[in-house]
Amino acid sequence: MSSRSARVSSERPFYDLHADAYDALIVDPVEPWVDRIDQHLRGAGFESASILDAGCGTGRHAAALIDRGHQVTLLDAAPGLLAIAADRCPGSRAVRADICAPALAETFDAITCRGVLNDLVEDAERDQALSFFGELTRDGGVVVLDVREAGGSRARADGIWRSNDVELADGTRLRFSSRPTWQAGRIVVDERYQLTDVRGLAAPPLEYTFHMRPWTTAELEDRLRRAGFRSIVIQPGVGRRTTDRLLVTASRT
Ligand SMILES: C[S@@+](CC[C@H](N)C(=O)[O-])C[C@H]1O[C@@H](n2cnc3c(N)ncnc32)[C@H](O)[C@@H]1O
Repeated sequence: MSSRSARVSSERPFYDLHADAYDALIVDPVEPWVDRIDQHLRGAGFESASILDAGCGTGRHAAALIDRGHQVTLLDAAPGLLAIAADRCPGSRAVRADICAPALAETFDAITCRGVLNDLVEDAERDQALSFFGELTRDGGVVVLDVREAGGSRARADGIWRSNDVELADGTRLRFSSRPTWQAGRIVVDERYQLTDVRGLAAPPLEYTFHMRPWTTAELEDRLRRAGFRSIVIQPGVGRRTTDRLLVTASRT
């Protein structure tokens, strides 16, 4: 994996070692995002679209898009999350790849990318990913993105530890704790993972620091235009519990 974010995807415990806890910890509803994509695709003339879900995670959104009659290719850099997505969407092609260098030959009617582009903290990664999105979207095709917005993200990065306990399928429990702080345009998240076995014995905590870089509307417009996208529309996020998200649609014309 060549980009920084792809390497981080393979090592962040949330994305790989503890991928089995992801769906218990992230409980945003699937329907608002999928309904909006479906509506947007039908408006663009795609009743049954070929979609690349770039950074598909556990495939929750891909599965719901398949239920609505679309064909979805799953792509993610994290093997643990991608394996869960592949199990959930057995008829779909699952590709372990870097969105900054995906090495795919085909083009798609649409690329969906939810909550992924914040993980790309370097300028070069951001341009590479959007440039590939441009190459992989066929003429007349669309992208639908969900990203963190810089101002709202800064306000939420309050330096406070919060914890969440979840029970996993094998009867163990995971306590996930995180503390977001704002540092020079990035959200720096200190993370702590602690497993408790079925007898109630807690393992030593595992610590990890994760970096995200939210987006401004000006940056989105600039990078999308340079990647060949037009009709760029930026709106408040959909289906999120917080107001620090943006929904972005754009067309390849
Ligand atoms: C916050 S998760 C979002 C997952 C899913 N889209 C969702 O909404 O539940 C971010 C995802 O992006 C993936 N990702 C981050 N950087 C990537 C890269 N360079 N190439 C491929 N996947 C990447 C991670 O592995 C992870 O699955």
